[in-house]
Amino acid sequence: MNPASVQHLIVLGTLLGAGFTGADTTGSWCYEDPKCGPETWVTLGHCNGTRQSPINIVTPDTVHNPHLGVVSLAGYGDARKLISMENKGTTVDVLLADGLRLSAQGLPAIYTAKSFHLHWGQGAAQPGSEHFINYQGFSMELHIVHTKNNLSVADALKDPEGIAVLAFFLQATAHTRPSHSWDSFTQHLKKVALKGKKTDLDGSFSLRGLLGSVDLARYYRYQGSLTTPNCDEVVVWTVFPDLILVPPGVVDAFPSILSSTKSDAGPRLQNNYRPLQSLGNRHVQASAGLRVARSFSSTVRPAAFIPLLISTAAIAWHL
Ligand SMILES: *[C@@H]1O[C@H](CO)[C@@H](O)[C@H](O)[C@H]1NC(C)=O
Ligand SMILES: *[C@@H]1O[C@H](CO)[C@@H](O)[C@H](O)[C@H]1NC(C)=O
Ligand SMILES: [Zn+2]
Repeated sequence: MNPASVQHLIVLGTLLGAGFTGADTTGSWCYEDPKCGPETWVTLGHCNGTRQSPINIVTPDTVHNPHLGVVSLAGYGDARKLISMENKGTTVDVLLADGLRLSAQGLPAIYTAKSFHLHWGQGAAQPGSEHFINYQGFSMELHIVHTKNNLSVADALKDPEGIAVLAFFLQATAHTRPSHSWDSFTQHLKKVALKGKKTDLDGSFSLRGLLGSVDLARYYRYQGSLTTPNCDEVVVWTVFPDLILVPPGVVDAFPSILSSTKSDAGPRLQNNYRPLQSLGNRHVQASAGLRVARSFSSTVRPAAFIPLLISTAAIAWHL
């Protein structure tokens, strides 16, 4: 082979390589088309591994760890840290400014929040959480993605504990008080209806506001993976079982407003969750706070009290 054709091959290889690692990964995997849906992901990256996510958390099988205390979140109440919202075609992603820090027992370092996104089904009637608790799924799941010691995401993928994800469940509940934060979030969805659209956020809601009154002392912890290809097995998961209750309209807004393509006539962005993966020989740990009866906060207002009671009863029943 002469040097000129070698040069050609190198150029071609570089082009192919660039195309493959480009930002638009949705050409190679998807959720709803059987040709590229989750059943086909086993051929991609680490998706056929043995510590994959999401999982069903069977609460009687969890291992109580009295050292797992309250998760500490610094800066999450600052609305100016939410920079922009983008429709990625596979989820809606919010970019976070520097300065949101997570520390907790069982985490080997301080982790910095980089972004958050959600997974959902087909509105309030069709749940779409990724994790399940005692074989039960929920309307939606919120993932806050952090990297260890403020590493870039690319570098974090090389560390077996490089990424920490905090997972929260949203549950559509009739007669729930409207949430200013979630109303504001869904108002912004209209500006990113099509894939690739991005809008700046205006400080009208914070991450802490979206989390509502979830008890940060009550959580499950396990080692798993990213739930999208390449399914890298680098994630320390912290899953909070207390539900964020939202009006059904909030959950319905996601699939009804968002398109998975650049055309409004394209398929809806919906059912963007990965099916359950097997636990294998892993153990899920339960935090210290899961062993004590949940006390009601004095700030719970009467109108929010009844649905909260129902959901607390539902969760307690599962434990
Ligand atoms: C996934 O791994 C299992 C066992 O390790 C193997 O039997 C199976 O063929 C693999 N599947 C693919 C698509 O690579
Ligand atoms: C964290 O990383 C980001 C992006 O590389 C950088 O802009 C920021 O200054 C870093 N923060 C700290 C506290 O080092
Ligand atoms: Zn996710």
